Amino acid sequence: MPGRSPSTRNADYQPLRTRIEARTARVGIVGLGYVGLPLALLFSEARFPVTGFDVDANKVSVLSGGGSYIYRIPPADIQAARKRGFTATADYSRINEVDAILICVPTPLTESRDPDLSYIRATGAAIAPYLRAGQLVSLESTTYPGTTEEVLLPILERGSGLKVARGASPGTDEEFYLAFSPEREDPGNDTAARDIPRVVGGVNQAATELAAQLYGSVHNRVVRVSTPAAAEMAKLLENIYRCVNIALVNELKLLCLRMGLDIWEVIEAASSKPFGFQPFYPGPGLGGHCIPVDPFYLSWRARQWDFHTRFIELAGEINSAMPYHVVAATAAALNREKKTLNGARVLVLGVSYKKDVDDLRESPALKIIELLRKEEAAVSYHDPYFPALVKTRKYDLQMKCASLDELGKYDCVLIVTDHSDYDYARIVREAKLVIDTRNATRGIRSSKIVRC
Ligand SMILES: NC(=O)c1ccc[n+]([C@@H]2O[C@H](COP(=O)([O-])OP(=O)(O)OC[C@H]3O[C@@H](n4cnc5c(N)ncnc54)[C@H](O)[C@@H]3O)[C@@H](O)[C@H]2O)c1
Repeated sequence: MPGRSPSTRNADYQPLRTRIEARTARVGIVGLGYVGLPLALLFSEARFPVTGFDVDANKVSVLSGGGSYIYRIPPADIQAARKRGFTATADYSRINEVDAILICVPTPLTESRDPDLSYIRATGAAIAPYLRAGQLVSLESTTYPGTTEEVLLPILERGSGLKVARGASPGTDEEFYLAFSPEREDPGNDTAARDIPRVVGGVNQAATELAAQLYGSVHNRVVRVSTPAAAEMAKLLENIYRCVNIALVNELKLLCLRMGLDIWEVIEAASSKPFGFQPFYPGPGLGGHCIPVDPFYLSWRARQWDFHTRFIELAGEINSAMPYHVVAATAAALNREKKTLNGARVLVLGVSYKKDVDDLRESPALKIIELLRKEEAAVSYHDPYFPALVKTRKYDLQMKCASLDELGKYDCVLIVTDHSDYDYARIVREAKLVIDTRNATRGIRSSKIVRC
């Protein structure tokens, strides 16, 4: 290209563009969890050679044996990907072999509810020594605006001795490309991944274009934004929007209960408006990796600008009170039967954080079980996705999944997660009392049902 020094001649982004176009670019996915593994399969299905990286030796070994550890991903999908060249490894030196590195590691909160970027930092430090000029790195983990450029970028530059391509640079022999592109995985939702648009924001135009081209190979639409921070903020806006709207309906549910109105009927009626309204549904509390966690990344960041994100705080307050409401409503329902919660046999139905998924993270069911136990209820649980509840960072419940054979022996059945496989008519028929936090029993008329 005229006007460029000889050292830049071979290292601009054109070679990688050509390899992406030809689908010979090797894609490396770091973190093979709920986000990373489906992403690895998506690129593999699109005929890209894929290498997955994970520090969990057990996950690597399961995948290498053609197995799966995510319920909705059948082993056959892993085996088909392996036939197309998908491999999993814990060996970071193989970062050198790939052309694009997509990082999907966890971003939880610390005990004091501050952002825990230790996984992003550890990943940056682990890949940096093997980084090559011309590679594209894209961070996908949900995080606060500024993480890609202020946290990951310096770790990569320091550890690799390379520089990130900035400004108008198309890439030199010493530069790599860096972007942020948030994952929009929606577990349990059948929307084809290809139909979910991708937002990308690169450190410079060349990085944005490379990332847009790569993601455009597996998604029908790519939305480019001007910076990684804009992409980071867009993802948080999406999750905060849900968190705040769920809090709104949770609060209105409490009011409806007091007024003798059915919030579900009200939402259904409001949903008939063809514009300006999107339905959100109340529940026993928030769960999953995103909604209960991500908004607090922004609250934390906002405080550095002396700014208080009041909507987020209020939504957090309302949503985190919901498990307490469920336990109080259970006690009140038992009271009407002249029973106390203390000593009552309670079967919690469904423990995953949402229906039809095998994900327990931040599930309100765990909090509800803990609260019920504090009140000395005899708690059992059933969930087709969890044969046992083992110790987690936050809870030590140590329970085995009960059978559904003798529902009549419980003082009440508490529906926390409305899995599709449950036969709700039978549950209502056989149980003495049913507390329904999800409107799972809609359409069933029985005085045994208490909706809360
Ligand atoms: N689960 C979702 O529905 C969802 C949706 C959108 C965005 N996200 C975001 O995506 C990110 C990943 O979430 P997830 O649900 O896949 O988490 P996950 O816990 O299921 O998976 C993370 C994986 O990263 C691995 N890992 C941790 N440290 C590593 C390291 N240093 N090197 C390599 N691997 C490492 C873990 O072993 C694990 O397999 C998070 O930031 C999350 O907020 C999640």
